[in-house]
Amino acid sequence: MPISRRTLLKGCSIAATAYGTGLALPAARRAFAGAPAELVAHEGSALLAAGRPTGAVMTYGLGGAGDGVPPVLRMRKGEEFAARLVNRLQEPTTVHWHGLRIANAMDGVPEMTQPYVYPGDSFDYRFTPPDAGTFWYHPHCNTLTQMGRGLTGVLVVEDPADPVFDAEIVLNLRDFRLGGDGQFIAPFKPRDAARSGTFGTVRTTNWQSEPVYDAPAGGLVRVRIAATDVTRVYRLGLEGAGAMVIALDGNPLAAPFPLDLCDVGPGQRMDIVLRMPASEGMVATLSNVKGSAPWTVARFRAVGADKKRSLRDVGALPANPIPVADLKAAEIIPLEFTATAEHGARESICGSLGYTFWAINRVAWPGDTADGVAPLAELKLGKSYVFRVANRTPHAHPIHLHGMSFHIVASNQPRLLGHATDTILLQPDETADLALVADNPGAWMLHCHIIEHQKTGMSSYVTVT
Ligand code: C2O
Ligand code: CU
Repeated sequence: MPISRRTLLKGCSIAATAYGTGLALPAARRAFAGAPAELVAHEGSALLAAGRPTGAVMTYGLGGAGDGVPPVLRMRKGEEFAARLVNRLQEPTTVHWHGLRIANAMDGVPEMTQPYVYPGDSFDYRFTPPDAGTFWYHPHCNTLTQMGRGLTGVLVVEDPADPVFDAEIVLNLRDFRLGGDGQFIAPFKPRDAARSGTFGTVRTTNWQSEPVYDAPAGGLVRVRIAATDVTRVYRLGLEGAGAMVIALDGNPLAAPFPLDLCDVGPGQRMDIVLRMPASEGMVATLSNVKGSAPWTVARFRAVGADKKRSLRDVGALPANPIPVADLKAAEIIPLEFTATAEHGARESICGSLGYTFWAINRVAWPGDTADGVAPLAELKLGKSYVFRVANRTPHAHPIHLHGMSFHIVASNQPRLLGHATDTILLQPDETADLALVADNPGAWMLHCHIIEHQKTGMSSYVTVT
């Protein structure tokens, strides 16, 4: 039965209920293997739609080729992670670790933080993630093609202090733009790029259609959801089980709340704990209810004897050490997101869509590099700032900042405030205040995560010195 439409408080429904103490279950965790991983970007084929395999798919393999969905990379908060990107594509690439507050040289932006990694070359990434949670990784070169063809993977940063649940399931949500023959078609239509973006034709979860996952009956399951699509904003709801939202965009909620409907835009993540149905064989369904007809994202099937857990046992996760801005001392930096009529698209090593539709503070990002583009702001290391972001368009834009997380402290629209994130799904005509401490030196991209918007001008950067 489809989920009915309910009134939605933008960016998740919130109940005022406070929930109890942390869940105390036996800790049985496998040790993290700290050896440097080889992350091989390569082409292949995959069965994405019914019928025949799709060619020219791009994916990552860990320690070799490997087909299908990019591996879930697991690392630990406060422990060094090392990976060698090996480029076996026929074009340059890089890896950006979305949401990780790490050193600028590891951020994966060609020409800004590192050289292009050409075919046959490799690049060593090495960093220590400061925050636990659900993050993701993707290239920062020719992204509409490279991400569109498959290069979007989920990244999990574990915290030894995390509560242990009866099961954990990772969901990588995205579309592929395939024709009737199952092969890739043009990644975008210019008239859609100038609006809310061009949608894929085949919807997948972990590169499958409507997958079913088994989990212990009556158990508590942590589901880590990452929206890695280049365009789609999901509105997620669950039927057949109750669930609590425990983290958004990698950062734990101080007060988890019951999941009703939640918008998750490109680049964003949502961690929920769902309480499986009590009897074996019963199914809970996660659906997307945005758009005309609701459709199934994933199903969870209860197996085994009833574990008799309760959502009341779900407490808050340990907080991440995100610095809190001093709002009294903070300098306000206005950032306006608009359409533009100027045409400035420049040929680029990382691909150009050939159009300019969007701008930040009236300037459209022209190509790969910052050549001729001044930073939006030159931030002083250690100082507090408020980015006063204004969406002057009738479309939602998931605005992402690299290298630093911010707290959303005000908005002219109803939304959850006070939460830390790296990506805000800015609603049409929304104005919001994003407070941050400029604690990470370097040049940091700020852009829309609807990749067509990013690649047709809605991109820029700030510096911290
Ligand atoms: Cu998810 Cu500039 O990145
Ligand atoms: Cu956008």
